[in-house]
Amino acid sequence: MANQEDMTRVIAVANLKGGTGKSTAVANLACAWGSEPAPMRVLAIDLDPQGDLTAMFGRYPDEAAGTVDDLFVDEDVTVEQARMSDVAPQVDLIVAGPKLASIELGLAGQMSSEFFLKDALDGHIGGYDIVLIDCPPQLGKLTPNALFAATEVVIPVSMVDRGAYSGAVELLARVEEVRRRQPLEVTAIVRTHVDRRRRAFRALNGEIESLGAPVAKTLIPLRSAFNDAGVVGSPVSLLEPDSEGGMAYRRLGQELGGLRAVREAA
Ligand SMILES: Nc1ncnc2c1ncn2[C@@H]1O[C@H](COP(=O)(O)OP(=O)(O)OP(=O)(O)O)[C@@H](O)[C@H]1O
Ligand SMILES: [Mg+2]
Repeated sequence: MANQEDMTRVIAVANLKGGTGKSTAVANLACAWGSEPAPMRVLAIDLDPQGDLTAMFGRYPDEAAGTVDDLFVDEDVTVEQARMSDVAPQVDLIVAGPKLASIELGLAGQMSSEFFLKDALDGHIGGYDIVLIDCPPQLGKLTPNALFAATEVVIPVSMVDRGAYSGAVELLARVEEVRRRQPLEVTAIVRTHVDRRRRAFRALNGEIESLGAPVAKTLIPLRSAFNDAGVVGSPVSLLEPDSEGGMAYRRLGQELGGLRAVREAA
């Protein structure tokens, strides 16, 4: 019988292009999964030196007992010590620290540098149903750490930015490389910044569907409310769960979360 850790879904939210909605997706999916009728225990990890996810939860590295930096530089620091508990209902957060960018540079010269995060999570995430990892907007050394720690990838693609499509194509090639060494499922491409009336949406939509990767049915609408999260420090799904944006992420959570039932039945 599988132990609890085998049941934990570890989802890297990634795209090699910036500004495509990765951090917004992590923050809102975390809140949606933490508060649905049958809430799940969620750990969100800010693996981007920009620290946007940390800001979206209204948190600062200096108020945290630990940061994701510690998991890379000190093998004695555990997830339990580095996390901030209950930043939203059922949601814990590991914030990005101020040294993450220089830590990434240091990883370049080290053996097996893409396995630091995986090693830090192993044996310490059994209490969570889902771990969400917010990746930076380039490959570097941090995104591979997320991919090797993950069981799944979710790829947000902004429907007003061709670069986001290209970033997804490049990421899918990297995912294929990881899959030569270990299982890694592409759970879904998620279309964000959606305005169906725009020509950009129609143009990119056709191209996305021809990629051959699963595409989530749920569309995340283009809404200025999402911009407020980084400023006010609270994700839309928490602040206004019944707004259009909040409901879209709840639907996405149900669509992607349904996979849990399949996995448990297996
Ligand atoms: N559905 C949406 N509608 C409108 N604005 C959005 C939407 N989703 C995200 N945004 C805004 O778009 C910007 C980029 O979003 P976000 O920070 O989530 O992207 P990212 O991919 O994490 O960026 P980076 O690559 O810099 O980490 C932010 O200002 C965010 O508030
Ligand atoms: Mg981001």
